[in-house]
Amino acid sequence: MNLLIMGPPGAGKGTQAILIKNMYNLVHISTGEMFRKAYMDKEPLGILAHEYIKKGELVPDDITLSLVEETLKKVPIKQGFILDGFPRTLNQAVKLDEILERLSLKIDAVLNLVISYESLVERIIGRRICKNCQAVYHITRMKPKVEGICDLCGGELIQRKDDTYEAITRRYEIYNQTSKPILDYYQKKNLVYNINSEDNIEVSFIHVQKLLEGLNDNAKK
Ligand code: AP5
Repeated sequence: MNLLIMGPPGAGKGTQAILIKNMYNLVHISTGEMFRKAYMDKEPLGILAHEYIKKGELVPDDITLSLVEETLKKVPIKQGFILDGFPRTLNQAVKLDEILERLSLKIDAVLNLVISYESLVERIIGRRICKNCQAVYHITRMKPKVEGICDLCGGELIQRKDDTYEAITRRYEIYNQTSKPILDYYQKKNLVYNINSEDNIEVSFIHVQKLLEGLNDNAKK
């Protein structure tokens, strides 16, 4: 099963992608996470991307596409994958199809998380991530066992540099400008499924599971 997960910043893409990856044994590829890791590792590409990310701007397509293409060559995508935060421009969507065609792969579904602006701001402002392994927490909804410390690796929990009110406003504005052409592109291929992401993490995952089980059943028929 090859999936894309879309939705505005803070919709819960990363959170649901990890649950989906674990349940269906997929490779999870998050471009945002790749950029953050490259920045923390002080890689030139990460430092360059950070200049755009901290302002809430998209990283230019040439940088993003080369990173994605390199990653897709390295990971075992034939076991199935979930792409999170990519594609984010129509050009990226078209290029992704070209890459997948070369690999004789295709997208099976695009999960589009739907959420109000008020809810996503609350989620983003309360988010904390592990500086070391990037695990995601929330100050009220997904607290670590020990405040400020990652349950998984003991790393320090920090706030993302782009989780400020200014950057969120810009990220949301860009999302509204760029997502429609991408959704239209996949809608024409009948691949888009809207998921209500207002519910809590567990209930949202039940919505996702129902959808994916339905798709699996149809594929078997
Ligand atoms: P990226 O990391 O992809 O950020 P984003 O799309 O803005 O999404 P977020 O990571 O903010 O949110 P999410 O939807 O994953 O929510 P999460 O699960 O963490 O990209 C960052 C930046 O990198 C971009 O702005 C851009 O600059 C650049 N970039 C990345 N990809 C690019 C590309 N393809 N092209 C160009 N540039 C690119 O959840 C948020 C919080 O809410 C968490 O604390 C979580 O615990 C909590 N939560 C989640 N679900 C629920 C729920 N159901 N109920 C209650 N709380 C919840």
